[in-house]
Amino acid sequence: MRHIMSPLDFTTEELDKLFDLANDIENNPRKYAHACDGKILATCFYEPSTRTRLSFESAMTRLGGQVIGFSDANSSSASKGESVADTIRVISCYADICAMRHPKEGAPIVAAEHSRIPVINAGDGGHQHPTQTLTDLLTIRSMKHKLNNFTIGLCGDLKFGRTVHSLIDALVRYDSIRFIFISPEELRVPDYITEMLKEKNIPYEEVIRLENVMPELDVLYMTRVQRERFFNEEDYIRLKDFYILDTDKLALAKEDMLILHPLPRVNEIAVEVDNDPRAAYFNQAQYGVYVRMALILTLLGITVE
Ligand code: NCD
Repeated sequence: MRHIMSPLDFTTEELDKLFDLANDIENNPRKYAHACDGKILATCFYEPSTRTRLSFESAMTRLGGQVIGFSDANSSSASKGESVADTIRVISCYADICAMRHPKEGAPIVAAEHSRIPVINAGDGGHQHPTQTLTDLLTIRSMKHKLNNFTIGLCGDLKFGRTVHSLIDALVRYDSIRFIFISPEELRVPDYITEMLKEKNIPYEEVIRLENVMPELDVLYMTRVQRERFFNEEDYIRLKDFYILDTDKLALAKEDMLILHPLPRVNEIAVEVDNDPRAAYFNQAQYGVYVRMALILTLLGITVE
């Protein structure tokens, strides 16, 4: 039995297979419409989310399966003091696979250790968010037709953004990737990440101004300032509108640069940018469903001829 806690739980070859499957689902959705008939996905969300939870629900439903679950800790027995270990033991009796989001880093790992069904980490605190990373990689691979040899700018809250941490971890395994980290001083990428890049000899730069590096980027990954992980509201208010991508700034970018954002967007991308052909964040949300469908099939060991 297999779980996914981090994108590194799959080799790059396994990821290629997963992405091929996701693209096949994209092109032949009817072929997969009953692949999960009789199967149940449990979504255990101890932290608010709309798109990740709904994209899992949509993925399972599109495969013909059913979904049960809870969408905030207060409506689960966690509010009565139940441990994650006990919860997953019980969920193992009710469902065939579980997607879990938790504000505590490592909680899904504890769940996986006590589970009889595959557990998918759907985001744990500021730590990892592997299915968002699979979504990001599939989007880049499908729209740029490669996962190597490009410069990616990650912009915004690089300190608390778990999607950023997961994506960097995953991208270092591909050839000739150069990272440009664009953030205010207070929201710089954590030291453990820059240490890891130094150790692996992977080129990166840290800058404050987006405009200065825009012409170099092949992919721009915008992120929201993670309000819920701030210690005080004042800092959040000071930093929340630090970056706003608008058409003026975009004029400096390459014609074929890809703009990604895990969503939800707040102010960091002006709505006027949505009509630009480089804006790929809504395509990304669509790829998020295909890749979760592919992941559910893979973890359940279901193949469709
Ligand atoms: C992200 C998350 O939950 O970390 N959202 C998502 O999964 N689509 C990014 C965010 O909340 O900013």
